[in-house]
Amino acid sequence: MIHARIVGTGSHLPGEPVTNDDLVRRGIDTSDEWITTRSGIRSRHFAEPGCKSSELALIAARRAIEAAGCAADDIDLIIVATSTPDFIFPSTATLLQAGLGIRNGCAAFDVQAVCCGFVYALATAEKFIRSGSHQRALVIGAEVFSSILDWADRSTCVLFGDGAGAVVLEASSEPGVRAMALHADGSYHPLLWVPGNVAGGQVTGDPFVRMDGQAVFKFAVKVLDEVVREVVDLAGVPQDSIDWLVPHQANIRIIQSSAKRLGLPMEKVVTTVSFHGNTSAASIPLALDCAVRDGRIRPGQRVVLEGVGGGFAWGAALIDF
Ligand code: ACO
Repeated sequence: MIHARIVGTGSHLPGEPVTNDDLVRRGIDTSDEWITTRSGIRSRHFAEPGCKSSELALIAARRAIEAAGCAADDIDLIIVATSTPDFIFPSTATLLQAGLGIRNGCAAFDVQAVCCGFVYALATAEKFIRSGSHQRALVIGAEVFSSILDWADRSTCVLFGDGAGAVVLEASSEPGVRAMALHADGSYHPLLWVPGNVAGGQVTGDPFVRMDGQAVFKFAVKVLDEVVREVVDLAGVPQDSIDWLVPHQANIRIIQSSAKRLGLPMEKVVTTVSFHGNTSAASIPLALDCAVRDGRIRPGQRVVLEGVGGGFAWGAALIDF
């Protein structure tokens, strides 16, 4: 039987950290106290104006490929999760492929599931690998979320940041990804969206993130522990065999609440939201890479990834490292 294993991780945060006080200095009517107590965010990173998601993805991808000990040309599938693609088309994945200098003609495409995008991309890649059609996939979450923030809307602009995270997923005879669950309910889409587009050379609608924060909060807390229990059941493993939970990094209160509902101590939860902010599709692979590189997540350990975001779309993966 063919399994799919994560054999390398990488990430990238652009520029210097921007603290909550820096946002106040930039003229946003907020405070470190408000942001920290509501969200747990102390700083985030913003890409330079004009910087594209594929540029952040390229650095994260190179680091993941190096960690995997393979060459870029060994990659035979590229999937990028992003809500802030470089262009309407082509896909950010093909631009990343060109940036990596991969000329082997491998498949490359984007998936769009907002903050759950990385989980959706990983699930897609896992199916390609388990089918035997592909050997080594590069799976990325990359965002320049600052490009869709309304700086006059303090209830959203203080919560998000830019970045990229990547994994190399490889065919193996040993189990890696043991179970995945994906869900969506599009009837909730007006609670968190960017209700705009480009048509006839004009921006139509509203090109900025709009969010009903309290409704998003309640929904996220309700579904996250359910989907973790679902992958634990699907994998047929005891819940107390989970070594690490790597949740989507949107808000420390959402993370704490879902850990509590699962009966997981916070010592087993990877949190990076304090210094990443919410980087949407990049958040889970960024947090994962952080914990792999600082030695918390080690070979042989069991990790659950979980995400929820616009759509609404949510999901989880149970993975043996
Ligand atoms: N600084 C200071 N005051 C602010 C700010 C700010 N940045 N933003 C809003 N306020 C004010 C509001 O104007 C309001 O003032 P008022 O009472 O005088 O009208 C007050 O703070 C309270 O606003 P609420 O919206 O009720 O604040 P709440 O306690 O609900 O916290 C928050 C808002 C942090 C957005 C919270 O609802 C939340 O965390 N929601 C989850 C959303 C989330 O994480 N989204 C990420 C994307 S989705 C995902 O990734 C899962």
